[in-house]
Amino acid sequence: MESLRGQVAIVTGAARGIGFGIATVLRGEGADVVVADLDEPGARTAAARLDGAGEHAFGIGVDVTREADTARMAADAVSRWGRIDVLAANAGIYPHVPLADLQVADFDQIMAVNVRGALLAIQACLPQMTSQGYGRIVLTSSITGSVVGQPGYAHYGATKAAMLGLMRSAALEVAAAGITINAVLPGNIQTPGFADLGPEHRRRMLAAIPLGKFGEPEDVGWAVRFLASRQARYITGQTLIIDGGQVLPESAE
Ligand SMILES: NC(=O)c1ccc[n+]([C@@H]2O[C@H](COP(=O)([O-])OP(=O)(O)OC[C@H]3O[C@@H](n4cnc5c(N)ncnc54)[C@H](O)[C@@H]3O)[C@@H](O)[C@H]2O)c1
Repeated sequence: MESLRGQVAIVTGAARGIGFGIATVLRGEGADVVVADLDEPGARTAAARLDGAGEHAFGIGVDVTREADTARMAADAVSRWGRIDVLAANAGIYPHVPLADLQVADFDQIMAVNVRGALLAIQACLPQMTSQGYGRIVLTSSITGSVVGQPGYAHYGATKAAMLGLMRSAALEVAAAGITINAVLPGNIQTPGFADLGPEHRRRMLAAIPLGKFGEPEDVGWAVRFLASRQARYITGQTLIIDGGQVLPESAE
């Protein structure tokens, strides 16, 4: 696969977890990387881990729910490196809230981060990608909501399925400009956010994974790297599951 040297990638939610895994793979493959995250010090630290000299990575504080922030994110990438080749719209939250306890504010917040956040990041990058006649956008959805359900995650599942609806129509709108939009659907990946769900959640999930282990953030990163390559030019509006086979079994044993 062609190197990403000379290409510019923006990864949201990249201070840690899956976003950092994506950023690590893209930087390792040669891309210049913008590490965008609500946690600004975390974004700067993550960028320094990718490139201590600061030449090929920089971190910025971005709240993806805010249009002004995503606009600044795209503008900073262009002013620094002159282009945007890849957007990995990955920032997301997944608090466990049973339906009986779910408040309108919880629902609005998760929709704002996971769905509006992906939309605003896409909209911010589209003018530059369109002017280039080239772009690769990869959304981080989930198996939850898109393929399977899980108690306590009705609101979350709704956002991850909504991201796919967004992707399919958006992919049609931007196709003529040489831009593809695809989605990765992770299963259970070892991240700080996943660790917060506790040992009982981990035990149940591990028992459901045929490959017998949780995924690593870079496992998602490599899937994004493929969809972000020039060679993935004939793939758009599609999903790729990275879950160790979790959604595969027809029966529980
Ligand atoms: N870990 C998993 O098992 C798993 C599975 C399926 C999907 N996902 C998805 O992967 C993505 C990342 O999950 P993770 O496990 O790495 O989470 P994480 O909590 O470990 O990291 C998420 C990062 O996103 C940032 N973030 C949160 N809200 C933001 C906002 N408004 N603007 C900018 N940045 C923000 C956080 O500061 C954090 O650095 C999410 O979209 C999540 O839904 C995760």
